[in-house]
Amino acid sequence: MPATSELMYSPFSKAVFDDPYPVYRRLRNEAPVYRDPEQRWWVLSRFEDVTSALRDWETYSSKLGPAPENPDDDGRKYSVISMDPPRHDRIRGVLKGFFTPRAVAAMEGALQATVDRHLGRLEAGTTVDAMEAFAFPVPTDVIGDLLGVPHADREQLRVWWEAFLTRNEGEVAMPPAAIEANRKISTYIGELIEQRRATPGDDLISIVLQATFHDPEVNADRALTPHEVLMFCNLLSAAGSETTQKLISNGLVAMHDHPDQWQRIVNDPSLIPTAVNEALRYDTPSHWVARTLTRRVRLHGVTMEAGDWVLLLLGSANRDERRYEDPDRFVLDRPRGTDVYFGWGIHICLGQWLARREAQMVFEHIARRFPRYTIGSHERTLTATVRGYTRVEMTLQ
Ligand code: HEM
Repeated sequence: MPATSELMYSPFSKAVFDDPYPVYRRLRNEAPVYRDPEQRWWVLSRFEDVTSALRDWETYSSKLGPAPENPDDDGRKYSVISMDPPRHDRIRGVLKGFFTPRAVAAMEGALQATVDRHLGRLEAGTTVDAMEAFAFPVPTDVIGDLLGVPHADREQLRVWWEAFLTRNEGEVAMPPAAIEANRKISTYIGELIEQRRATPGDDLISIVLQATFHDPEVNADRALTPHEVLMFCNLLSAAGSETTQKLISNGLVAMHDHPDQWQRIVNDPSLIPTAVNEALRYDTPSHWVARTLTRRVRLHGVTMEAGDWVLLLLGSANRDERRYEDPDRFVLDRPRGTDVYFGWGIHICLGQWLARREAQMVFEHIARRFPRYTIGSHERTLTATVRGYTRVEMTLQ
């Protein structure tokens, strides 16, 4: 885009979605508080501004949810991700402990078995669609096992989530197919919940169903309401899978495009945890989150009013030259500190350690068995908030 052209940013433009980084750079440099031309929201793109907003939940509220479709209560308000304290902390607390690094370490054997099952059947010298072969099924099976989703239903659930996230060019509103998919997901998860209510197991749905917490509003211990259970389980089934699929495939494409860094990983697999962090920064799966202002805010000479929507561009913050040296390169040796690819503050991703470990295991397998893999054609579908591939041709060698 020539520097003289008008600065236009929309998260629902396919051209931006395909290559957002040039427009992100212009936003950071020319309009760090950018107003959507249709006055629907503001956009913050600098690392410092995005991080400060994520920390300040009292000003940047999550109460209307993490996307500007303004979801309603009809199965579309996504649990803790659409709540402020104190309610947020109480519900999130139900699963605190379940996704800690120690808890994820205890899942090591099960995770490795899932990775081996899908990657173990791949053969050197063949060309596969990496999404179908392992990037879709590994995260889908990991969260499917945790939630106790029957094997036969997992691919259907993944396809519904993909439809739920798919957007039409230029349109903010959810297309009818996304609304329909959402309804099917809620019905399906609702039925699973009823089965677990009747016959509890040791899965996440049963844990959420049985959990109690102190609720000062009723001054008593209570369980989650049926709607709270449904929304929490819906959130876990999507968040646990969609984003991790994108991390795996975005990372493989990025490492293929940076062969010097990939060679270092092959020579020294202990670099893989660092490579996963860099993959998250370099091509972030969750490009933005939205907040609603609870008060007037003045930033970089611009005034935003209470009630306004603000998009926080994580994908841009992660490429901010004010924070990262040579940000458009995939570099393993970056000093780490605060990084916002999993968000930050009270809503920081609950499943971050699980997602990291899944991706690490996949990269370990590829580095060991297919160290000279190549990437062919690859394509994306326009989706809300999550950005990554739906097809990636990969030659295994
Ligand atoms: C690469 C993979 C992942 C990425 C990039 C990612 C990204 C994010 C981000 C950016 C947020 C913050 C949203 C906000 O501030 O509004 C978030 C929240 C969340 N994530 Fe993840 N996520 C990933 C994997 C997972 C997994 C594997 C799970 C569960 C098993 C999970 C569960 C959640 C939940 C429950 C929240 C809401 C937390 C809260 O609001 O307190 N995520 N995630």
